[in-house]
Amino acid sequence: MSDKKRLLFVVGSLRRGSFNRILATHAAEHLADQAEVEILEYADVPLMNQDIEFPAPASVSRVRASFSAADAVWFFSPEYNRTMTAPMKNVIDWMSRPLVAGDYKTPLPLTGKPAAISGVGGANATAGSRAALRALLEVVKARPVQGDGEGFSLPAATWATGVYEIPAEDAARLDAQADGLLAAL
Ligand SMILES: Cc1cc2nc3c(=O)[nH]c(=O)nc-3n(C[C@H](O)[C@H](O)[C@H](O)COP(=O)(O)O)c2cc1C
Repeated sequence: MSDKKRLLFVVGSLRRGSFNRILATHAAEHLADQAEVEILEYADVPLMNQDIEFPAPASVSRVRASFSAADAVWFFSPEYNRTMTAPMKNVIDWMSRPLVAGDYKTPLPLTGKPAAISGVGGANATAGSRAALRALLEVVKARPVQGDGEGFSLPAATWATGVYEIPAEDAARLDAQADGLLAAL
């Protein structure tokens, strides 16, 4: 088995052309030789509803296994109305609960888990979203290792064209964040 660290990337946007997914893909390519990276697919996770919590839906069990297997989780999220997106909050809410009712012994998948945060959006570089996410990660007892992480603003041209080419200085900052995360594990 590989002794590379396993990183789980969680993209807060479900949009097919997501700029945050482009950011995550860049980081995955940067880390390709140094870590095993999985970009989580979780669009099939239902909204948290305690009526369907136990037994956990298959999608929740699958996502939970990915979180549990990871040495660290790196969140890439846009900002929706100055906070994190609903899909991202939803998946974290699921991860904050046991798979089996009343199981308080099995560690939760985020407990003590090193976590990193990034986001690309408008002028404030997702500061509101990243702060909210960091606060939530502390509530669920994960371990944000880089504070609120790194934020990026979309180049003006991207809003017009829909094409996101990560500016070189932003790519360098993201690469440094990736290296810092690995070094912290
Ligand atoms: C419901 C909604 C709320 C938004 N609120 C913000 C916001 O508070 N700050 C911001 O910078 N961008 C905001 N945006 C714009 C997003 O930054 C932009 O749509 C971005 O491309 C979404 O990320 P994605 O490309 O990864 O899907 C909002 C977009 C939506 C759909």
